[in-house]
Formats: sequence, C-alpha cells, structure tokens
Amino acid sequence: MYKSFYQLRQNPFEITPDPSFLFSTARHNEALASLYYGVRARKGFVVLTGEVGTGKTMLVRCVLDLLQRTGVAFAYVFNPSLSPLEFIRYIAGDLGLPVAGKAKDEIILALSAFLVERHRLNLTTLLVVDEAHYLSPELLEEVRLLTNLETTQRKLLQIVLAGQPELDEMLDSFELRQLKQRIALRCHLEPLDLGETRGYIQRRLQIAGRVPEKIIFSEPAVSAIFRHSKGFPRMVNTICENALLSGYARRAAVIPDEVIEEVARDLRLGVVSQKDNKKNRSAGGEQEVKKLELVRAVKTLLELHDYLQEMKSTEKEEKTSVPYRTSAQ
Ligand SMILES: Nc1ncnc2c1ncn2[C@@H]1O[C@H](COP(=O)(O)OP(=O)(O)OP(=O)(O)O)[C@@H](O)[C@H]1O
Ligand SMILES: [Mg+2]
Repeated sequence: MYKSFYQLRQNPFEITPDPSFLFSTARHNEALASLYYGVRARKGFVVLTGEVGTGKTMLVRCVLDLLQRTGVAFAYVFNPSLSPLEFIRYIAGDLGLPVAGKAKDEIILALSAFLVERHRLNLTTLLVVDEAHYLSPELLEEVRLLTNLETTQRKLLQIVLAGQPELDEMLDSFELRQLKQRIALRCHLEPLDLGETRGYIQRRLQIAGRVPEKIIFSEPAVSAIFRHSKGFPRMVNTICENALLSGYARRAAVIPDEVIEEVARDLRLGVVSQKDNKKNRSAGGEQEVKKLELVRAVKTLLELHDYLQEMKSTEKEEKTSVPYRTSAQ
C-alpha cells in the first residue's frame, strides 16, 4: 500500500526471517563465523542463544544457506515438541532416508551407516534444532546419544542448538552435564544498540529499494523506535511497518517521532501486564511466599497426620477398653 509512496520495491519490515535482509553487526558476524566454522571444522556441538526476536532463526538460515553451498547436508528441526521416535524419524527423513514403517533402532542404524558413508566421502552432515529450549529432557538425551556417533578422530554428526536463554540454563543443569561437556562453541545474540538500530532500519529500507540518501524515519523517530523496541529486531520491524502505514495515511514523506509514539500506543508497547509486572518485580519475593506456603501446607499435613493418629489410638483405646469396662461393669 505504502510502497510506491515511499519508493520501495517490496515490504522492508516483514517479520519472516529472510536471509537476504541480513543486517550484520560485529556480534552477528562473530556468531555467524562461530556457527560456520564449528560445522565446517566438525567441532561437534554448537549452541546459539538469544532472547525472543533477536534473530537466531535468521542467523541459522543464513548459515544453512552458506553451508548448503559447500555440500553440507542438514536436517532442520524447527518444532522440537516431538516424541523420541518422531524426533529420530524426522531427522532421518529430512536427510532423505526412508523411514516409513521402521522401528527406532532400525532408523538409528540406517542413520549411522549414512553418516559413516558421508564421512568416508569427506562430507559434513548437520542437525539443527531451532527453538531448542523446548526440547524435553528425553529429547536432550537423544541429542546426547547422537553426539556419540563419532569415529576415532571426528564427530560424524554436527549439531547446532538454537534457543532462548532458558536453553543455557537447561544445559547448565546437573543432569545434562555430559551434554554440556560436549559443547565446542557457544554464541549469544544481544539486542541492537541505538546506532545498530539506525543501521538496521536503513539496511532493510535499502534492500527493499529505497535510495540510501533519502531518509524516511527522522532522527527523533529512530530514537523513539529504539526506545520502544529496546533494540529487538522483530519489534523494530513491527513498529516500522505500522509507522510506514501511518506515515502513508498522513502523506508524511519523512516520518516524525509522533507517529512512532502513536504506533507504540496502539501496539500497547508501554503496557506491562500487572501479572507480569508483579512477577518481574517480586520473582524473589514470590519464591519466598511459595516457600512459606509450602511450610504452612506441610505443617497442616503434619497436624492432620497427628490428629488422625490420635483419633486412631483413642479409637483403639476405646475398642480395647470397652470389653474391659464391660467386664468391669
Ligand atoms: N540481523 C538481522 N538482520 C535482519 N533482520 C533481522 C536480524 N535479526 C533479526 N531480524 C529480523 O527480526 C525478526 C525476528 O528474527 P528471528 O525470527 O530470527 O528471531 P528469533 O531470535 O529466532 O526469535 P524467537 O526466539 O521468537 O524464535 C525477523 O523478521 C528477522 O528477519
Ligand atoms: Mg526463532
């Protein structure tokens, strides 16, 4: 709708992770290099983390694009809420192996034969699990077993796990220490800073066809976008997309910060749900309350237990004492 008004060939702020729109900061370059190098050098196991909407999927897609050109075959799991059998079946299927009607151990055998053969031909095979923070302990164990597929010198299957920061916490847990020891490289994505947010907006506009010299967002508008999005690329996209629509409706060739404020209000960006707010403010306090509640509940149970025991013993006493009394009577 606004495209011809702003002289754009395509929508600059789609929220699908399209690698052709990549804007690379130093941190992105570092993460890209780690992922690429980790896989190419067959390091085994690489972990990428970042908050919601920081660009993990985007980065993974860019790396896959690059790796595909070098002959790396990959399985890409983007919904890890699967059972262990579904998980293994999906991976093998995505790598082109026949899986219909096969049992899990048959599939694993076929998978390892496939990996050995590819290794013999000096070809790299990769498993990527996106949204890996949703992996159940059962599936993480499957991942660990997959990292066991190795020759004496090299890992047969390269694994990249990408997910939100909870993934780091999961991998830090005592139960998963074996898996954690196998992580060769870790990278983390942060939100953009103000300068990067400015560059990000310009880059996307430029790729969408806008002449770089002609600005669309005024400098105060860029600051407002940064303030409201906190530098999270997905949020920047949402704000900018809405601002372009609004700017077009007003026929504003350069979008002022008032438009951004209006968009942020419409998107309710300043509104933090009372529930979340409470949760954030008193995460520690809430734990204390929970502990107190637990202590209270345990006390009540103990009291109840004592009370029932007492009842039982008085009942017994009564039963045993009745004949006595009767006989005494
Ligand atoms: N470096 C970047 N360059 C260009 N666009 C980006 C970049 N990082 C993120 N984006 C854009 O931001 C949006 C969110 O990115 P993406 O889906 O990759 O985030 P994510 O970290 O995987 O989020 P989630 O945790 O919800 O899965 C997408 O539209 C993507 O195109
Ligand atoms: Mg993602």
